[in-house]
Formats: sequence, C-alpha cells, structure tokens
Amino acid sequence: MKTITEISALRQQIKIWKQSGLTVAFVPTMGNLHQGHFSLVEKAKTVADKVVASIFINPMQFSANEDLDSYPRTLDQDQQGLKALGTDLLFTPTPGIIYPKGLDAQSFVEVPGVSEGHCAGTRPDHFRGVSTVVCKLFNLVQPDIACFGEKDFQQLQVIRTMVEDLSMPIEIIGVSTKREDSGLAKSSRNGYLTAEQKDIAKVLYASLQRTHKALVAGDRDYTSLIKSAKNTLSEAGLKPDYFNICNKADLKIAAPDCNSFVILAAAFLGSVRLIDNIQVDINDLV
Ligand code: PAF
Repeated sequence: MKTITEISALRQQIKIWKQSGLTVAFVPTMGNLHQGHFSLVEKAKTVADKVVASIFINPMQFSANEDLDSYPRTLDQDQQGLKALGTDLLFTPTPGIIYPKGLDAQSFVEVPGVSEGHCAGTRPDHFRGVSTVVCKLFNLVQPDIACFGEKDFQQLQVIRTMVEDLSMPIEIIGVSTKREDSGLAKSSRNGYLTAEQKDIAKVLYASLQRTHKALVAGDRDYTSLIKSAKNTLSEAGLKPDYFNICNKADLKIAAPDCNSFVILAAAFLGSVRLIDNIQVDINDLV
C-alpha cells in the first residue's frame, strides 16, 4: 500500500489507474480506525478494482468548543490495518494541502435541508465542513464509488444529497453500523469511555430498538415514544441531546402516515457525545 501526501502524486496514480480502465472505490476517514472503518474498506474492495482510503482530520468540521488538537492520531496503527485489508493507496494530506489559503478564505459547499437539525443543533457548522472536505476529496480522488458508514446517518444523507444536487458521477454506498456485542455502535469516541460507561452507553441502542419495535407494532404517538426514550436515557445516566423520529429520505420529523423511518439519537455520557440510529421500513416487513 502506497501512502501519498501530495496532490500531484495522488493525481498521477489515479490517472494511471483510470487510463488502464480500472475503477476506484474511496473510503474517506479521519483516522483512529476501528472495525466500522475496516468494514467500509472490505465493502469497497468488493465493488471496485482499486481502493483508496484517506486520513485527514478535517479542521473545518470541528466547532470552536471541540478539541481538534486532542483528536486521536494513530497513523502507524491505521496504516497497518488498511494494508492488511489490501487497501491500494492511502492519502494523508496536511491541512495546508487541503486548505492552502486557510479556513476563512476557503470556498465551501453547503447542503440545505438535510444538514439542518439533529446533529447540527449542537454542531451548527459541522456539515458544511463535512460536505466541503468530501467534495474536495472527491475532486482529488475521482472515485467511481465511495463508502460511508450508516452510523453517521445524517452525514450519509448530506453526502448523498450533495452528490445528487451537484451531479457528481459517484455512487454512494452506505454500510451498516458495526456494533459491540452489547449493541453499542463502534465509534472512535468509545475509546474515551470506561468499561462502566460502556455499559451505560449500550442503553442508547436499546432505546432505539424499543422505539423501533413500537413503530413496527403500529404506535404513531411520536411524542410519547420520544418522551419515554429520553426518560430511559436519563435514568441510565445519559444526557439526551436529541431523539427524533424522522422520515428517512429527507430527515424531516415523520408525518403520521410515514412508512420509512430513521430514528436519530444523540446523548452525552460525561463529555462524550454518542450518536446512533435505526431504520424502520414498514413496507419491507409486510
Ligand atoms: O466520517 C468521517 O470520518 C468524516 O466526517 C469524513 C466523512 C471523513 C469527513 O471528514
């Protein structure tokens, strides 16, 4: 596996592959890789001839109150994991390469609608940072396919919408969330949790599952379902950020006749903010 930091070397390699008629699948990451990321690479390997991963801790998607400097940096370990899976190329640009004029002078991409609400409630400019960097990485890597985790469901819908709105010739594949045996979604942030906290954190998924079951059983009293889920979270020691029953396509709050839901949830455990979601497609069940 080649690791490339410079744009010119990246473009050169991509050009060679494209000229040979090879397809490219892309897995963008911020590093500190875990089983969730590796499952994206595994998926990417099944859908294209070459797999490119990137590791770039994107300053544009961090708010002023979030500590960019303490974000875990584990490059050697990440490289080993990617190499073992047969990744063909790892792109590791620096902030100076991605944002040579600095963040304030940088053009940006903003995706209306799906970027609003949910995670944007506590992280207002987060999705502008995500869509901008992903657009830029897509322009550099020029993938045919890109793989993203369904755990960050709002991010996945932001990227799908950007690709559709801007007519980017890229297929976006959402890959299902990888979980601990307890149900806790695999996340870089789990590294900040003690064993005791992990036991509390599993209640987030349990509360999503319980709401899922109620929706499948025909309960449409969203207000009560949300209240009950938030109470469960609070009683377990989590601080709910949001718990929203949404229409899966546009992430708007679900209408009473909705049949394709995604339940989006975020909760704090101490200073760690955990997110998770569950999809409910009623028509697929009948
Ligand atoms: O999900 C992530 O790790 C990041 O948001 C992404 C998509 C790599 C953009 O920086």
